[in-house]
Amino acid sequence: MRVRAAVVGVGHMAQSHLPNLAQFEDVDLVALCDVSEERLHATARQYNVPSVYTELTQLLDGERLDCVFIITPEWLHAVQSIECLRRGLDVFCEKPPSHNVEESKRMAEEAGISGKMLALGFNRRYRVTAIKEAFSENPPQMCVAEFIRPVDEYRPLINGSIHALDTLIYICGEPRSAAAVATYSDPEKHECIAASIEFANGALATLASGYGTQTSAERLSVYGHGVAAWWSGNSVTVRRGQASESFEIGDSVSLEDRHFIDCVKGEAEPIATIDDAVVTMEWAHRILAAAGINISQAPRTGRGYLQWCPYCGADIVAYEEQCVSCGRELGAWSIPIEAMVE
Ligand SMILES: NC(=O)c1ccc[n+]([C@@H]2O[C@H](COP(=O)([O-])OP(=O)(O)OC[C@H]3O[C@@H](n4cnc5c(N)ncnc54)[C@H](O)[C@@H]3O)[C@@H](O)[C@H]2O)c1
Repeated sequence: MRVRAAVVGVGHMAQSHLPNLAQFEDVDLVALCDVSEERLHATARQYNVPSVYTELTQLLDGERLDCVFIITPEWLHAVQSIECLRRGLDVFCEKPPSHNVEESKRMAEEAGISGKMLALGFNRRYRVTAIKEAFSENPPQMCVAEFIRPVDEYRPLINGSIHALDTLIYICGEPRSAAAVATYSDPEKHECIAASIEFANGALATLASGYGTQTSAERLSVYGHGVAAWWSGNSVTVRRGQASESFEIGDSVSLEDRHFIDCVKGEAEPIATIDDAVVTMEWAHRILAAAGINISQAPRTGRGYLQWCPYCGADIVAYEEQCVSCGRELGAWSIPIEAMVE
């Protein structure tokens, strides 16, 4: 089977997916969609994609597709994914599933109703496969997950270090309780969070999410009875007794894209579903609440978050309540799903 795919949103992260899709011999990358015509045409030229659209509904009306990649800002994921599911298409949606828990649950409901696949871009799952396998029979006793970035980010535990939480949940299963402390001045831009998580299988974990720090780091260490395993960079090491084995990981976005296409072809099962993502989102919010951080359920724009206006595609170079180019409201932007999906 050849898979006919389209990509919605051709910004930063799409540049990690598009080279894979363009190279897979069983994929026809038939169309791109973005509100920025300039980026759209440049990307179509770069990857030799025949059709471009500035509106998702026009893309879905105009193309015969098997699947769609949604790589837009997270507050568009629900409306766009649901639209594609309702058109009978399999969907790959970048993480996080949405900007709040409620919409993430709506996405899961719609996936269930449609019977189509809604896979989420938690690509770190593909980096820790050997660790998950090492603990498949006996759960871990103790895990330490670090996600450290030298930048400021909007809602880090929802948008960035959610990867570290998701990886812990992937390996240990559903949490049972969480306690947390945090340093922050703006609740929407927490700097450091230290969380202690207890899992239903008895495993304990420490999650360190640090932003605005001196350096960048991402690591996971997992310890159990007779087995220890850790991931950093491009390799995983598993130690049983005195014997250690190391595995090279490869590019996790490429592994993720290949696996998604195999799932569309019916040759594999997704390992990061919308149901998994709802669990991760719920616990990210519980950890924030445990740390006393009350984030708004509405999205917000600003530098480092929205880089382009979702209406006209103009650059956003500083925090603006309204787009400086088209004047549309950006600050309290929120669309009820019903208003978008007819
Ligand atoms: N898995 C990862 O490791 C990882 C890393 C970075 C980003 N992401 C996720 O990828 C998603 C996109 O992030 P990004 O960094 O590429 O953002 P980005 O701002 O660079 O790109 C988003 C693109 O979506 C386009 N867009 C906006 N509104 C649109 C609309 N209505 N229809 C079509 N296109 C529209 C924008 O013009 C832009 O080109 C986010 O959910 C982000 O969290 C994941």
